[in-house]
Amino acid sequence: MKGIVFNLLEEVVRREHGEDTWDGLLEAAGLAGAYTSVGSYHEEELLRLVAAASSALGIPPDEVVRWFGRKAMPLLAGKYPAFFGPHRTTRSFLLTLNGVIHTEVRKLYSGADVPVFDFDTTSAEVLGVTYVSRRKLCALAEGLILGAADHFREEVAFEHTRCLKRGDPCCAWRLAFRRAESSVARAA
Ligand code: HEM
Repeated sequence: MKGIVFNLLEEVVRREHGEDTWDGLLEAAGLAGAYTSVGSYHEEELLRLVAAASSALGIPPDEVVRWFGRKAMPLLAGKYPAFFGPHRTTRSFLLTLNGVIHTEVRKLYSGADVPVFDFDTTSAEVLGVTYVSRRKLCALAEGLILGAADHFREEVAFEHTRCLKRGDPCCAWRLAFRRAESSVARAA
C-alpha cells in the first residue's frame, strides 16, 4: 500500500485527535512510522494501525476505516483540485474514478494497486457501483464516497447489497444522492 495512505491517516488522526495520538497508535501497533508518500508498505501495517485506533477509540475497525475515508477526502481535494474542479455532483466525480483519478494515481505513485469499479448508469436517480479487490476495503470506499458527497454538498443514501466480506464475489452498492439540506437552506 502506498505511503500516501499512511500520510493521510496520520494527518486525519493528528487533526481530529491531537498531535500525540498518532505516536500512541504507532507505539500500540509496534510500528516505526516515517512513511514517505511514494514508498510502498505492507497493508498489514495499515490494518495494525486501524486495530490500534479501534481499541483506543472504542469503535469497530470498519468504522475507523469509514471515518478515515470521509475525513481524508477534503485533504485529497486540497492536494488534487484538478480531479474535483470539473464536477458539480458526486455522481459525475465518481464516474471519473477509473478513467481519470485512479489512472493518474497509477502514474503518480508507481506500483499503486488501485481498485476498478463498475458503474451502472441506467437510472438517473440511483447509481449502481460494484467493487472487487483482494483487500476488501469496501469501508474505505464508503468513507471516500461520503467524503466526496460532503465536498459536493450532497447527502448519499447507501444500500450495500452485496459484500466481499460476506463471501459475495463483489461488493455492490446502490447510491442515491440529493442536495444536502444545509446547502438548500443556504441557496434559498
Ligand atoms: C470517492 C472516490 C474514491 C474511491 C471510492 C476510492 C476508492 C479506493 C479504494 C477502496 C482503495 C483501496 C485499494 C483497494 O481497494 O484495493 C483506493 C486506493 C487508493 N486511492 Fe482511491 N478512491 C477514491 C478517490 C481517490 C482520489 C481522489 C485519490 C487521489 C489521489 C485516490 C488515490 C488512491 C491511492 C493513492 C490509493 C492507494 C493505492 C495503493 O496503495 O496501492 N483515490 N481507492
